[in-house]
Amino acid sequence: MIISSDSINHMEKFYRVNFINSLTGFKSASLIGTINPNGHTNLAVFNSVIHVGANPPLMGFLMRPVNVPRHTYHNIKANGYFTINHINSNLIKPAHQTSARYPEDVSEFEATGLTVEYTEKILAPYVKESIIKIGLKFVEEFTIKTNETKFIVGEILEVIIPEEIIEKDGIVDLEKAGTVTIRGLDSYHETKLLERMPYAKP
Ligand SMILES: Cc1cc2nc3c(=O)[nH]c(=O)nc-3n(C[C@H](O)[C@H](O)[C@H](O)COP(=O)(O)O)c2cc1C
Repeated sequence: MIISSDSINHMEKFYRVNFINSLTGFKSASLIGTINPNGHTNLAVFNSVIHVGANPPLMGFLMRPVNVPRHTYHNIKANGYFTINHINSNLIKPAHQTSARYPEDVSEFEATGLTVEYTEKILAPYVKESIIKIGLKFVEEFTIKTNETKFIVGEILEVIIPEEIIEKDGIVDLEKAGTVTIRGLDSYHETKLLERMPYAKP
């Protein structure tokens, strides 16, 4: 079948959200940790984290429009730091629960039972239980004018990772870490490596 943009525009709201969100393919599964100026920690699940560049090491994610309170966004803008914590298969339930709209003074860490962990360098909480953790400094934001979403870019200041899951050539063995992948807004999947390919030349 061919689904036209007109049909998409006429889809029931939640059907359309599910349809479009799963069309992009499997996505990264992250918990973004932040803290507000009053010291309240915040944690939220994101499926839009991508690699932006390796030199300098940059990562970014897409933020929904900030015309309603978005604690992650406001905390990042207030203190300039955030953490990205991979979601492992044993963390799916608490990770998903962080998407609930808790009031600002309720920490998703406490609400879900996940544990806060800090390092000296990053003014934002890590998820202790997560196997791969990245500490970043906010560097830039871009507004997508068409729908008012924001692309947030951070520079990696440190990575907390078990040494044995980094392969000889630098590739991180995500399966060994138990990192999951996300479809749409509600499905968490394990992965299976099919093949590693050599650098392609013409
Ligand atoms: C699987 C999943 C993926 C999500 N990915 C994103 C995302 O990439 N960007 C975003 O702005 N919100 C995303 N959300 C919604 C946020 O988790 C949700 O708005 C959360 O309440 C934000 O928390 P905060 O206000 O504490 O920052 C996602 C939700 C789920 C369930």
